[in-house]
Amino acid sequence: MNQEFKKYQAQTSPHPLGLEISHAKGSYIYDIENNAHLDFVAGVSATPLGHNHPKVIEAIKTQLNKYMHVMVYGEYVQKPAVELAKLLAENLPEPLEQTYLTNSGTEAIEGALKLAKRATGRSEIISAKNAYHGNTMGSMSVMGYEERKQAFRPLLPNVKFITFNNFEDLTNITTKTAAVILETIQGGAGFIFPQKNYLEAVRKRCNEVDALLILDEIQPGFGRTGKLFGFQHYNCIPDILVTGKALGGGMPIGAFTASKALMVLLQENPKLGHITTFGGHPVIAASALATLKEITETNLIYKTLEKEKLFRKLLVHPLIQEIRGKGLMLALIMENADITNQLILRCKDQCLILFWLLFEPKAVRITPPLTITVQEIEQGCQLILSVLNQIKS
Ligand SMILES: Cc1ncc(COP(=O)(O)O)c(C=O)c1O
Repeated sequence: MNQEFKKYQAQTSPHPLGLEISHAKGSYIYDIENNAHLDFVAGVSATPLGHNHPKVIEAIKTQLNKYMHVMVYGEYVQKPAVELAKLLAENLPEPLEQTYLTNSGTEAIEGALKLAKRATGRSEIISAKNAYHGNTMGSMSVMGYEERKQAFRPLLPNVKFITFNNFEDLTNITTKTAAVILETIQGGAGFIFPQKNYLEAVRKRCNEVDALLILDEIQPGFGRTGKLFGFQHYNCIPDILVTGKALGGGMPIGAFTASKALMVLLQENPKLGHITTFGGHPVIAASALATLKEITETNLIYKTLEKEKLFRKLLVHPLIQEIRGKGLMLALIMENADITNQLILRCKDQCLILFWLLFEPKAVRITPPLTITVQEIEQGCQLILSVLNQIKS
């Protein structure tokens, strides 16, 4: 199968990890030889309840037995999508009340950018250096990493970049700006959190010049940082909130949420301002709804902070320079990329799944399912320490 994987499935990396999967349950992914791999990555933050959570599986099966795709987005009343959008609104502050469901994070970013242009009549978008918002043309245009986008130019015109956490750069936001788009917590850049008052200052500047603020919560959203959404740590509410990954509970999804006054603009001049065939798919929405209920009705979010403390207590080693992040969005910062690679690959050989971050070669991603247990954390950390002991810096 591994040979056919390389022969028939398009590859974007010369060295894919190539683990051949049999099944997955809870915090473990099983390979075809039935080795249990402890998952400290959660499909890059996309399986918040671990693998095959019974409530999610039940919701999917129940919906499968009723109906799958019946009509393009937004025409028919389909209960799972309506209930999901309603539950999101109930868990979000005003004015974030209406949600558009998409098939992926990048598609939700595209929708958000379009909505900002439509609402302001302006075209300039301000993004941040080292930002990652997805891989389609619009999202790639606001990616702050030239090396990965050069080959695909020309991209969207009128995109400017500021430095995340630099207050002086905020003067670049002007009355020409349609929107400022930021990850609430920069993921690919190395889990960079906003400094004190930074997001508040961005919000204030946007208000001064009537630009919209788009916050991308595709990674930190849904409890990972100890609050349902990352922006709730700060006194800053976006005009458009973009989510994805964990929202689907293991199924493909994205969403952008805004006020009704903004969203209504997608209905006119032009009508059908953003359309999709499968967005709001009933089976995926059912999975998302069950996931969001479980996250909001249990103490999982609160527990992420206790679990963070445990990781920080256990992961003390001379080769770990820093542990960045909050809750279960953590990154080990090593001295150099070589140590990072060795740690990830040797742990893989010993059945612990770790992963890289996109643009920070010294970082090791630790973003386990929110449901990970204390024993699993202890077991995984012990292995990390024993592997580190074998690595020479
Ligand atoms: C912050 C952020 N924005 C956008 C995306 C794109 O989401 P998707 O891969 O679902 O298109 C990602 C995916 O990694 C992300 O981390």
